[in-house]
Amino acid sequence: MIEQIRNIKSTEELTALHSSIFGKNGSMTVRLKDMKNLDNDARVLLNAEVADLREAFKVRQTQLEELSVLSGLKAHKLDATAKFDTARNFDTGKLHPLSQALAEISAILADMGYEMRTGPEIENDWHNFTALNVPPHHPARDMHDTFFMESGNLLRTHTSPVQIRSMEKDGVPIKIFVPGATYRRDMDATHSPMFHQFEGLNIDKNITLADLIGDIKEFVTRFFGREFNMRIRPSYFPFTEPSIEPDIEWQPGKWLEIGGAGMVHPNVLRNVGVDPNEYQGFAFGFGLDRMAMLKYGLNDLREFFKGDVRWLKQNGF
Ligand code: DAH
Repeated sequence: MIEQIRNIKSTEELTALHSSIFGKNGSMTVRLKDMKNLDNDARVLLNAEVADLREAFKVRQTQLEELSVLSGLKAHKLDATAKFDTARNFDTGKLHPLSQALAEISAILADMGYEMRTGPEIENDWHNFTALNVPPHHPARDMHDTFFMESGNLLRTHTSPVQIRSMEKDGVPIKIFVPGATYRRDMDATHSPMFHQFEGLNIDKNITLADLIGDIKEFVTRFFGREFNMRIRPSYFPFTEPSIEPDIEWQPGKWLEIGGAGMVHPNVLRNVGVDPNEYQGFAFGFGLDRMAMLKYGLNDLREFFKGDVRWLKQNGF
């Protein structure tokens, strides 16, 4: 009997054998009913036999269960090509609003003929200031709250130095835009020591202020998906002459400044070896974070850089 139990191949057969022995009319059940007629020695023997049988069933049951787990594992080899969407509760990431804004802006400007360029975030005095017609001791330097390094280099305070680098490298005509991180000592709900700008530069033989205003208007209309009343205020930047600041009427009577712009100053062109009597053009510099905040209705810039996944889940794309 014990031998038979050990050789059984499935839990179903084991259950069947168990009930044929211990079930209602099972062979052992019948014998146990007759126990009262046995003498003491025979009872002890019978009890031992029952205990051995029960133990044999238990052991075989455990073995069969283990065998079925093992053969199950063998049959289901890990499929590393399984699709993510078959996994439950898979936590997907989201695009940061800045990445989203940059993708939208790049697509629009590329479509308008601007090629993307980038430059270093650690700059020298020449590219960040002097070549942009901001010589040493020029008061405009004070407005930039610059982070200086002991080497004399600095964290670029705007993306404008890439105008210089691009013209030094490729000359003119040139039509580029430059997104990137910029740095100033400033911190409140709308200012962060690291923030982002994007710069535009378009130099050729017959470029005018009207081209600049036209491009700003087209860009703004396409980015926000609607037309705004626009107002052009005269302003001052050392690297442009004339300089302007475009405002848009965000809500009736509520005007928002969206950046700085102007016709590139002849000194800037001279500084990169371009003859300002032959070539001229415009430049503009907008806040990338500011554009994202306006378009997506976010009001605290500091949240952009905290790395809080809950914020990203709510505000990402
Ligand atoms: N660089 C300026 C700033 O950060 C913004 C700017 C103004 C850029 C006028 C330009 C420009 O290219 O023409 O405040």
